[in-house]
Parts: sequence; C-alpha cells; structure tokens
Amino acid sequence: MTKPKVLLVLYEGGHHAKEQPKLLGAIENELGLRKFIEDHGYELVSTIDKDPEPHSKVDQELPDAEIVISTPFFPLYLTRTRIAKSPNLKIAITAGVGSDHVDLDAANERNISVLEVTGSNVQSVAEHAMMTILTLVRNFVPAHDYAVNGKWDIAAIARDEYDLEDKVIATVGAGRIGYRILERLIAFNPKKLLYYDYQELPADAIKKLNEASKLFNGVDNIVERVENLEDMVSQADIVTINCPLHDNSRGLFNKDLIAKMKKGSYLVNTARGAICVEQDVADAVNSGHLAGYGGDVWYPQPAPKDHPWRSMKNANGGGNAMTPHISGTSLDAQARYAAGVKQILTEYFNKTYKYRPQDVICIDGDYATKAYGQREKK
Ligand code: NAI
Repeated sequence: MTKPKVLLVLYEGGHHAKEQPKLLGAIENELGLRKFIEDHGYELVSTIDKDPEPHSKVDQELPDAEIVISTPFFPLYLTRTRIAKSPNLKIAITAGVGSDHVDLDAANERNISVLEVTGSNVQSVAEHAMMTILTLVRNFVPAHDYAVNGKWDIAAIARDEYDLEDKVIATVGAGRIGYRILERLIAFNPKKLLYYDYQELPADAIKKLNEASKLFNGVDNIVERVENLEDMVSQADIVTINCPLHDNSRGLFNKDLIAKMKKGSYLVNTARGAICVEQDVADAVNSGHLAGYGGDVWYPQPAPKDHPWRSMKNANGGGNAMTPHISGTSLDAQARYAAGVKQILTEYFNKTYKYRPQDVICIDGDYATKAYGQREKK
C-alpha cells in the first residue's frame, strides 16, 4: 500500500545548512521533521524545485500529496490551477506567518485547511522593520559604502541623514507586527504614531503605548487611529506596511497613493512585496519623491535579477534598504516555526484537530481569521 505523502518545499541551504544545523528552514534540515513524519506512516518528499508551474517537481508530486508545507521565504505558490490538480490535498501549512502564497479562496472551495504558525516571527520582523527605518533615515547604506571603500565624505552622507526623533510614523496594519513596531518606536521619542487598520486596537493596547510615551518621553496621547489611508500617509514622515496580502491590499501602494505621501518621506515594507506596485515604488525613489524604500519582501520570490527594487536609488545614491526575504527567518524564528509546524502536524496526524485558533487561516471551507480582508461571514 502506498503511504500518504507530505510535500515539503524549502530553500536550499548548501554548505551553510551543514555548518549551521539551526538552519531548520533549509531543505537539508527539513524543519527537523523527517523522522517525526515518517514515524507517523507518511512519506516525506522535500524539494526546492517549485517553479515554473507546471513544470516543476512540485507539480509532479502535488497530485499525490495530502499535506504541503512551505515557507513565505521561498514560497510554493499554491495557485488555483495547482489546487485543482491536487485531489488528495487536505492541509497546507505555512512554516512562518503569511499564507498569501496559497490561493485561499480556491483552498476554501476545496475544503483544504490552511494553517500558519502565528506569532512565530513577529518579533523578528518588528526588529527588521525598525532596522530598515533607521537604515533609511540615518542614510546608513551609502555611509557604509564610503567606510569600506576607503572614502571620507561626511557631507555626501549627512545631506540626507536625519533623526528618527520627532518624526510622524504610520503603520498600515496594527496587528502583531504593526503593534510591536509601535511599541519599539516609543524608545525613539517620535512626534506621533499613526495607525490605519479596519480592526481597532484594544483600548488597553493603546493605553500601554500612551503610558510608555508619557513615562519615557513626557508626551501623552502619542497613538492615533486614522480612518482614511490617504490622510494617514499624507501626514507621515515614515510609513511602514504590516498587513497581510489579500485582494484589498494587493497593489495598494500604487503611484496614486504614493503621490499622496509627503515628498521626501520613507516607505518600509516587510509585509509582502505585492502590496506595492514595483515600478511605481522604483519611480518614486528614483525621482526623489520618496527619500527611500526598504524591506525584505518581493514578488515573485526569489526575485528576478532585473527586479527594479534591486537597482533603484535616490539622486545621491541612497534610499534603498532592500534585503532578500530574511526578516522572519532568524535562527530564533526558525526554531519557533519548526516547533509550530510539528504541533500542527501532531493535531492533524492524531485526528484531534485541536489547533491553536490563531494558527487557523482557513478551515471547513471558510476563513477563520479576520486579518485577510473584510468580508461577510458565510
Ligand atoms: P496579524 O494578523 O496579527 O495583523 C495583521 C493586521 O493587518 C490585522 O490587524 C488586520 O486587520 C490588518 N489589515 C489587513 N488588511 C489590511 C488593510 N488592507 N489595511 C490595513 N490593515 C489591514 O498579522 P501579523 O503577524 O502582524 O503579520 C502581518 C503580515 O506580515 C503577514 O500576513 C505577512 O504577510 C507579513 N509577515 C512578513 C514576514 C517576513 O518575514 N517579512 C514574517 C511574518 C509576517
């Protein structure tokens, strides 16, 4: 009898994965789950060969797979057409946070459960977003370039270098990551913290931020909810994007919305690349309307060599703080999301299905989360 199949898609680790066994998210280390999966009577097929559809190993394996596991860093794009060719698929698990690489509507139509390890890397991303904000505002990248290339031109750097203190900083999405960024920003004594989210922050969460600001900076009522996104971005010196990618956030930051941002402001996106229109962002940086853009998320991933975000720069050679998709995959985060995947699989294998509610994105043919856009409950 053939065994049921788990299909695991992870990025290649090469010698790094051999030298660093904590790189659990690399294909060589398979989230540390091979024995666990095989002990439950499943065959584990792991691969890096995910693109292009329909000519990859993933496409060969999907028709027999019951479980797929993938990470947002090197996503298996589980499209509607791939789902249609996967009659045995019951559950798609994201090792990390953010399941937009799965066509969630198509998964619901087929009653495929979609789960992720909510919270597993939110602190990692908040730290990366903070780093990216500082990198841009302090004009770090060109300054570092000067340092390692034997040059010393203070004015060339300082002409585009500011303090974070006393700036207006705005987040699109104030969930686990957005809120953590707001918390961390208090330490920098901002002028105002704004948020835009159709889900209001709980009163005690606002109170905590306001009290911290009063205590550390002597500034009360630091946080403000803004009902209109255009209003918010027009007031902000720095905008950080922290909402999931879904139908209403795809392409949200296009040339029209970016035109509403203050000239010389910064945009930081560690949420998902496709929330921004890539050429519109590059044009805004190249023209100087945006002083800079940074983040770690792209579409598609891996990003093509000629992706405009690789080469965009402001007139003085700065304004680009892009990295590959690494913010949520620190070694600490990898341990957390590997453990979270094991916990989800345990519930699935034991047929107990007592998943942590916050991990469930789709189940029983419907969305279980309010984070992927506003919609009427069926
Ligand atoms: P969360 O579910 O705790 O919070 C998301 C918030 O965004 C919710 O409050 C929701 O109401 C809000 N939201 C949804 N659509 C919105 C819209 N159009 N405008 C304004 N707000 C909107 O999620 P969490 O943990 O904060 O993660 C957010 C996203 O960050 C993930 O979905 C993922 O795409 C991304 N992420 C990126 C990582 C990386 O490595 N770069 C790692 C982890 C998450």
